[in-house]
Amino acid sequence: MSNRTFTMIKPDAFANGHSGAIIDRIIKAGFKIVALKLTSLSAEKAGEFYAVHKQRPFYGELVEFMSSGPIIAAILEKNNAVEDFRKLIGATDPAKADEGTIRRVFAENLGRNAIHGSDSDDNAAIEGNFFFSGLERI
Ligand code: RTP
Ligand code: MG
Repeated sequence: MSNRTFTMIKPDAFANGHSGAIIDRIIKAGFKIVALKLTSLSAEKAGEFYAVHKQRPFYGELVEFMSSGPIIAAILEKNNAVEDFRKLIGATDPAKADEGTIRRVFAENLGRNAIHGSDSDDNAAIEGNFFFSGLERI
C-alpha cells in the first residue's frame, strides 16, 4: 500500500474552467498536495507518458488530446492513495462512472475524461518523477 499517487487535470477540464472545483474536491476527499504545477505536454512528451498504450487504437487520439492545451500535474498524499484516488475520479468512461465522481461530474466523454490517476504504486512513482524534481515537491 502506497501513500502517494500522481494526477493530471487534463486539457478538457482545464479549458472548461473546472481546475479549481476539481482541486477542491481532491483536498476535501483527504488528499494532501505535495507537488503541483501548471504546464503543457508536447506530443512527444504525451506519447512518452502514455507509451504503455502505444499499440492501442486510441493512442494517436490520446496523444493529440493530451498535448492540445495546458494541464495541471500534481503528486498527492493519503493512506491508500492510488486506490482511493481511482475511486474518487471514477471509471475511465464518464458515462459509466459512479454518481458524484470527478469524471462523472466534469468529463466530456471517454477520450476527454477530465483527469488522470495512476493505476499502481510503481506507476505513481514513475509518473511523479516524470514531472517533478526533488526540489519541486515537499
Ligand atoms: P488515465 O490513465 O488517463 O488515468 O485513464 P485510465 O487509467 O482510466 O484509462 P487507460 O486505460 O489508462 O486509458 C488512458 C486514457 O486513454 C483514453 N482512452 N480512450 N477511445 C478509447 O477507447 C479510449 N480508451 C481509453 C482515455 O482518455 C483514458 O483516460
Ligand atoms: Mg491509465
